[in-house]
Parts: sequence; C-alpha cells; structure tokens
Amino acid sequence: MAANLTGFSIALMPGDGIGGEVMAAAQSALEVLRTRYDLPLAWEVLEWPSTAWHQQHGEMMPADALARVCAYDALLMGALGDPGPLNDPARYKLTDSVSLAPLLTFRKGLDLWACERPARLLPGAPRYLADPRAADVDMLVIRENSEGEYVNQGGRLHRGTPYEIATQLEVFTRRGTERLVRHAFRRAQQRQQRRGTTRSYYCAEKGSAPAQVCLITKRNAQPVWGELYTEVFEQIAQEFPEIGVTHQLVDAACMKFVQSPWDFDVVVASNLHGDILTDLAAVLSGGLGLAPSCNINPDSRELPALFEPTHGSAPDIAGQGKANPAAMLLTTAMMLEWLGFSDPAEHLRQAVAEDLANNPDQTRNCQTITDSVIDRLHR
Ligand code: NAI
Ligand code: MG
Repeated sequence: MAANLTGFSIALMPGDGIGGEVMAAAQSALEVLRTRYDLPLAWEVLEWPSTAWHQQHGEMMPADALARVCAYDALLMGALGDPGPLNDPARYKLTDSVSLAPLLTFRKGLDLWACERPARLLPGAPRYLADPRAADVDMLVIRENSEGEYVNQGGRLHRGTPYEIATQLEVFTRRGTERLVRHAFRRAQQRQQRRGTTRSYYCAEKGSAPAQVCLITKRNAQPVWGELYTEVFEQIAQEFPEIGVTHQLVDAACMKFVQSPWDFDVVVASNLHGDILTDLAAVLSGGLGLAPSCNINPDSRELPALFEPTHGSAPDIAGQGKANPAAMLLTTAMMLEWLGFSDPAEHLRQAVAEDLANNPDQTRNCQTITDSVIDRLHR
C-alpha cells in the first residue's frame, strides 16, 4: 500500500440492512475530516456486495470483484446478510451463507488473517453488568480470520435420506497459528508500552496489571488443533518474557467474560471461537452498536484491509433510523489509523466518546447521533 499521486483510495461498501444507514454517517465523518486535515483520501461507493445487487444480477458481487477491490487501499463495509423474509414474505429471500459469502471471499482472498475487535467500555455506554469493575473492561480480541472452522470444506452425502451424512472440515496450519499468536503478543506489547497515554483504541489505558495474552481453545474435547495452538503459544511466549500468559477453554471463557471481564487484556482465539466471543465482548463494551472491527494482514499492506463493524445487517431495525452509527464510526477511525492518519482517527474516536458521555439517552436515532459527532468534528 502506498499513497499514489491522488492519495489513498477507499471503497465504501454499504451492503445490506442498516449497512447503508451507518455508512452514511461514516461518509459524513470522512468528508469533514478530509477537509479539516487536508487528507489525501478519495472514495467510491460500490453497490456490491449486497442483496440488492443479487436481486438484479443473481450474484452478491461481480465475478471479478476480488480482483477489482485490489485497486483500493482500504475497504470500508457497512454490513452484509439477509437471513430471509422474517415477518415479511415479500422480502427477497437469500440464504444467510450466500449473502455473507463475499465477506469470507475478501477475508481469505486478500489474506486478511487477523480480525481485531477492541472491547472497551466508554463512559456513557450501556453497562449491562452490575459490578462496578465492569467499567474497566478494556480488552482486544484477536480472531483468526483465514482458516480454522470457516474453511467451508465438506459436504452432504445421501442428502435428504435417513442415511444423510454432513461433514464440515476444520483446517488449522502451523504457519497460520504462529503468525496469529505472534501478532497477539506484539499487540500486548504495544498496549503495555502505551499504557497511561490516551491514544489509540488498541491501547489499554486503564489499570496497571501487566500485559497479558489469553489463549482460547477447546483442547479438552478438540485436542488435535487445541494442542497445536497450545504448543505454538508456549513456543512464541518465550519470545515475549515480559508478557503474562493464560489459557481458557472457550466455554469457561464465556463464563469469565461475564463474571470478571476486567481480567482480560489481549485474547487470541480461532475463527469460530473469536466470532462468538466478540459478540459477547461487544455487549461488555455497550452493545453491537458500539463495537468496531477490522480485518487486516499485519505483515503486508500490498492488498487492501477490510474494515467493518462487528454487527450484521440488523434486519429487525433496518430502515427505521434506529441503528447506532458509533460502531461504524469507530471502525472508520480504525481504518484512518491503519492508513497512517492518527490525528484524525483520534479526533473521530474522541468525538464518538464525547457524544456518548454527554448523551446517555439510548433511544437517540442514527441521524441525531451522527449530527452530534459531526458537530464535534468541526470543533
Ligand atoms: P446483527 O448483528 O445484525 O443484529 C443482532 C442484534 O443487534 C439485533 O437485535 C440488532 O438490531 C442489534 N444491532 C446490531 N447492530 C446494531 C446497531 N448498529 N445499532 C443498534 N442495534 C444493533 O446479527 P443477526 O441479527 O444475527 O444477523 C443479521 C444478518 O447479518 C444475518 O444475515 C447475518 O448473517 C449477518 N451478519 C453479518 C455480519 C457482517 O456483515 N460482518 C456480522 C454478523 C451477522
Ligand atoms: Mg459474528
């Protein structure tokens, strides 16, 4: 990735459901920040991938979409997914796996092997746990993003008969595990170095406990990959003697995320486990409306990284103006940070944080929140 003469180019992909609503907020924020900081940024809004595109063209995105997105420096996506008609039989019906497939195509095809999801409870955000220590939640969950349970290999034999067999393969490689675990330790190191400063969503600003990486597996019941993960983790931990280490089985981790989430710092997990744990972590930081996420290749910027909030298309509230754009705005800040624009990224994060701290009313609509954040970007 290198800024060309016209600077960085970004593809904005609103996608489905609330994706378009929260993308409008992101686009407004980018416009203000571009002017204010004279950012060399250009963007293009793409109609694909989306269910609407599928309705017109019979596919979620053009066949050469993967090659086409390589022309951009970053991809910013709203949300994908159409789980079917729900209460409205007239809705265009697609299976969940078809509508979500482009996401997996980009993550794998662009080798975006790390998914980072910070969960930090900002003042003013809904706090679902009664224990006052829940105010100190500040963790970074790093999820494997390219292999594991989501390789989508397998099939159904004797379909529809009583003898039907379904197989769904999981694939874990040593290389994939090593790069993931090493990245988790590096992030823990960075968080420790920046402790006490106010900068960056990646950083633990609270508490004084030593940096720590917690490995998640289910090695008691799934020992094959569980032991590979454990061996690689122990080996790479030797390179980072100053970082503490722990291990949790995924079921116990779910329990401890609720019981004592303030004990976690960096958490590293497989694709499926990370997926599940990050919806839970999102609730610890105020809900899906506040949870940012990115898909990156920490070793290379040759191909674009993909930035999208943790939430999906939220069909239950789509089209009603009820979506919280904060997750999308915080995701946009992650993208700006990744592109090297730290000051605008910090400005955007602060604007979201200030808006939240000053407006604890959880019923405000998407436009009201957007206007309040944009107003703060002008200050
Ligand atoms: P979801 O994340 O879309 O919604 C879960 C719940 O959180 C809903 O009650 C929704 O109203 C609420 N919610 C989500 N984002 C919100 C926001 N910004 N503000 C306020 N409330 C918000 O997950 P769900 O319902 O399981 O999936 C819907 C569709 O999205 C499915 O097709 C699924 O496959 C897809 N999906 C896509 C993702 C992506 O694009 N990365 C991630 C998760 C799901
Ligand atoms: Mg998920």
